[in-house]
Parts: sequence; structure tokens; C-alpha cells
Amino acid sequence: MMTGRFISLEGGEGVGKSTQLAALAEALEGRGVEVLVTREPGGSKGAEAIRSLLLEGEEGRWNPRAEALLFAAARSDHVEKTIKPALRAGKWVLSDRFLDSSLAYQGEAGGLGIDRVRDLHRFGSEDFLPDRTLVLRLEGGEGAARARHRDGEEGDRIGSRPPSYHAAVDKGFKAMAEAEPGRVRLIDASGNAATVTARLLYALGDLLP
Ligand code: TYD
Repeated sequence: MMTGRFISLEGGEGVGKSTQLAALAEALEGRGVEVLVTREPGGSKGAEAIRSLLLEGEEGRWNPRAEALLFAAARSDHVEKTIKPALRAGKWVLSDRFLDSSLAYQGEAGGLGIDRVRDLHRFGSEDFLPDRTLVLRLEGGEGAARARHRDGEEGDRIGSRPPSYHAAVDKGFKAMAEAEPGRVRLIDASGNAATVTARLLYALGDLLP
């Protein structure tokens, strides 16, 4: 019997995800919920080891299928060793990225197709899904991504991919919200941090104690 709730926070590069993750965790704790904050790729010993393989090194280090498999393998370990035990203990698990990142980055932007990447999740994690997925989005956020690319920021293997890749990631997230409106919600990431946190909490309204 799982009693906790599993929430994933998603978004492209530079939408203030880290700030919102911390603020949301604090807001939930303020409501008496015990929160475990975790992240992907990573979140368990094995998955953190895979994280370095994925984010460090040459852009061409992995072919697209190998990259998708590594994300799925890391997720399988994360679900089994970290997420499910915490939920069983009644905690709320807040994950910085989860499956929908793979669907948007590897599936849509990487060209493998959302369905094929979802199949990897069916195998790796028995299609285990968040109770809710909140996707932070900035309309015209591509502009910021382009500027960071030009300035040489976002140095990891995936963050440093070109603006066209990140535009496709955004398209992937929108497709997920359309396909699964009950689970996946797009959240406007514009405005001050407190306003954005309020939007996130509102989107969890039906799950809150
Ligand atoms: P991270 O340093 O955690 O960045 P961010 O602050 O953007 O979350 O790097 C994670 C990178 O990996 C990020 O560029 C998104 C990418 N990623 C995928 O491509 N597929 C996935 O399934 C996940 C979880 C992340």
C-alpha cells in the first residue's frame, strides 16, 4: 500500500526549476507533509553513477538509443531504491525531472519518438508514473536558451545542445500535457518566484491534504 504522493517537476533549461523545487518542498512541508526531494538523472547510488556517464564527456559519447537506455536504466534504479520505499513510508516524493524529460528530450527532440521511449519505461520501471507532473514553461523561453548557448553556458552534454533541440523539447512537453491532461500540467513560469510557486500549488490542489 502506497500512501505518499509522487510529484515530478519538469521544464526546459533556465525556467527557474531549482528555485521552484525548493519553494514547493517548503510549501508542502508547511502543510505537514513529509517531503523527499530527489533528482534525475540520479537519485540513487546506481543512478548517480549513470548520471556522470550521461552528462559528462563528448557530445557523441552515446548514440541516441544508448542514451535513452541509460536514462531508463538510471530511472529503474531510482524508482526501486529511492522513490517506492519513500512512498511506502508515507512521504511525498518531489523529483527534479522524471520520465517526461526522457519523452521530451530523447523521444521528441532526439528523434526516437515518444512512444518508443515510453516502451523503455514500461520495461525498465513497469510504467510507474507520477501522481502529477508539473512542467514549468516560459513562452519565448527559446530566446533565453539561445542566449545561454551563445554565451557558452549550460555546459553539460545535453544542456549545451542547440536551440532547435531545446525548442523540440518544449514541443515534447506540450505533447505530453495534451496526451495526459490528468497527470501532466503546464505551468506558466513567468512572473516572480512566489507567483510561480502559487501556480504550482494550485495545480496540486486536488492532491493536497
Ligand atoms: P541537470 O544538470 O540536472 O540540469 P537541469 O537543471 O536542466 O535539470 O541536467 C540534466 C540534463 O539531462 C538536462 O539537460 C536534461 C537532461 N535529461 C534528459 O535529456 N533526459 C532525461 O530523462 C532526464 C532526466 C534529463
